[in-house]
Amino acid sequence: MALTRNFLLFCSLLPFFIVPSLSKTSFRPKALVLPVSKDASSLQYVALINQRTPLVPVKLTLDLGGQFQWVDCEEGYVSSSYKPVRCRSAQCELARSKSCVSECYASPRPGCNNNTCAVLPDNTVTRTGTSGEVGQDVVSIQSTDGSNPGRAVSVSKLIFACGGSLEGLASGVKGMAGFGRTKISLPSQFSAAFSFDRKFAICLTSSSSNAKGVVFFGDGPYVLLPGIDVSRSLIYSTPLILNPVSTASAYFTGEPSSDYFIGVKSIKINGKAVPLNRSLLSIDRIEGTGGNEDQYCDTIYSNGNINLQSCHGHFCQRASQGS
Ligand SMILES: *[C@@H]1O[C@H](CO)[C@@H](O)[C@H](O)[C@H]1NC(C)=O
Ligand SMILES: *[C@@H]1O[C@H](CO)[C@@H](O)[C@H](O)[C@H]1NC(C)=O
Repeated sequence: MALTRNFLLFCSLLPFFIVPSLSKTSFRPKALVLPVSKDASSLQYVALINQRTPLVPVKLTLDLGGQFQWVDCEEGYVSSSYKPVRCRSAQCELARSKSCVSECYASPRPGCNNNTCAVLPDNTVTRTGTSGEVGQDVVSIQSTDGSNPGRAVSVSKLIFACGGSLEGLASGVKGMAGFGRTKISLPSQFSAAFSFDRKFAICLTSSSSNAKGVVFFGDGPYVLLPGIDVSRSLIYSTPLILNPVSTASAYFTGEPSSDYFIGVKSIKINGKAVPLNRSLLSIDRIEGTGGNEDQYCDTIYSNGNINLQSCHGHFCQRASQGS
């Protein structure tokens, strides 16, 4: 607990944000840094990600368990470097898509191209799953040595979904930045692009004032105050558990969850164990819910066909498996 409090204190004193300088020379960063602020009215954590050609700051809500970055492309997506991801391509495979849009009945634009790979961008605030084209575009982000911000570096073909519902998101937000357990989440793509460890650290502020939080992509040091490297105090660890069933609002059958799960055995408050049925704490291998049968399951997509189901508990699981 003491660790958490210190962490937040450091965050509120964060000395980042020197004007980034864009460099075209080849330089391989060891880590990247992304400032995060808390939106006062929605209480969402938001970050500005520079994307497109010419680069523009795109405001996104952070989604720790989110599968990938998704951006609403309906309005104002202008970029000379946008490329749709074709069906059955390596990038489509990486995105675990099981859906192909052969024809988009409108004039071509980012988000509407023929023969493109499609995924299911999830607004995890309102729990709305929609369909969106997989695209690639330039993203620029600031490098760091763990204590000071360095030059900006770019990933020329970052995979993201062009689509999604913006309802319920903070004002000005154009999508969500997914940090979850997939090959195309932001931490995975950044570590692959610059060959650094698939690690990230998030330090958030509880206040919505000028204090900012930060995300570090890559290994420490994570210096949040001069001389204080918090990666040194991260001495405890707990294994992550893979939930074999997607927890997204809409998903392809057979997809595991992109959320991070840990094995909780008991819960204590003020040193006193909370009386709990332990089956509530374990993951149901079939339903993927925390043993809670009342979990609501809305839309199931199987093999690219949209199969609308509104169901509860066991019924839902049987329906999704078509039995
Ligand atoms: C898709 O292909 C059809 C038929 O070839 C064409 O009429 C249409 O304009 C194309 N749409 C896009 C978005 O390129
Ligand atoms: C715990 O919950 C499970 C699943 O809901 C139920 O089958 C079991 O009977 C419960 N056990 C106790 C001791 O209440």
